[in-house]
Amino acid sequence: MIVVAIDGPSGVGKSTVGKALAASLGVPYLDTGAMYRAVGLLARRKGLALPITEADDAGALAEQAEILVTGSGGDVRTFLDGEDVSAEIREPEISRYASAVAAIPRVRRRLAARQRELALAGGGVLEGRDIGTRVVPEAAAKFFLTARPEVRARRRYEELVRKGTPQELVAVRAEMEARDAADSSRADSPLSCDGTYVVVDTSDLSAGEVVERLRQLVLGPGAG
Ligand code: DC
Repeated sequence: MIVVAIDGPSGVGKSTVGKALAASLGVPYLDTGAMYRAVGLLARRKGLALPITEADDAGALAEQAEILVTGSGGDVRTFLDGEDVSAEIREPEISRYASAVAAIPRVRRRLAARQRELALAGGGVLEGRDIGTRVVPEAAAKFFLTARPEVRARRRYEELVRKGTPQELVAVRAEMEARDAADSSRADSPLSCDGTYVVVDTSDLSAGEVVERLRQLVLGPGAG
């Protein structure tokens, strides 16, 4: 059974690469950020205001909600209590809510336990912020993707243009850096890289090149 952990900040290509790598290895793909986004969406729908604190009881929301992230390749979907919220969870406001609820230990405990269960049941490529440090630290293949900040901001900017919801590049970069700083500095399982990861800088590589490199590292140099 293959378990691959992919961690890193936003805009490094984790989702694009993770989906393609999972398809090429023939294992499930799990976007763990989508689960935090679903809890973030629920928090906003319940009228919680940012910043969210432990007193807001986002933990109870995460425990009661039924969150399902399904599919692979081009058709990955997120369901919240049976409703398809795949598009709504990508809104910039929900990115802020996701990062906020992700700092609450009870939310993390709940989601990380579910993610670990899925990984151990069927293997897969899991991508997020704490997959190699907390969810499946024993995974044989652990990758930490990085890219220069201007490259990451441009990728996110182009993604928003493609989706028909463009924003100023400077605003995209500021928002991205604020979220990465929050994700890296929270007390509970922050985004962090240690010697157990293989670090891959994706700044000057195409998605296909990154997938190929990771695939070779997972399967060994003899793999076709
Ligand atoms: O990968 P993403 O941008 O969709 O993730 C949304 C937020 O969820 C991100 O700001 C950090 C948080 N997250 C996390 O704390 N741990 C994970 N394993 C995945 C995401």
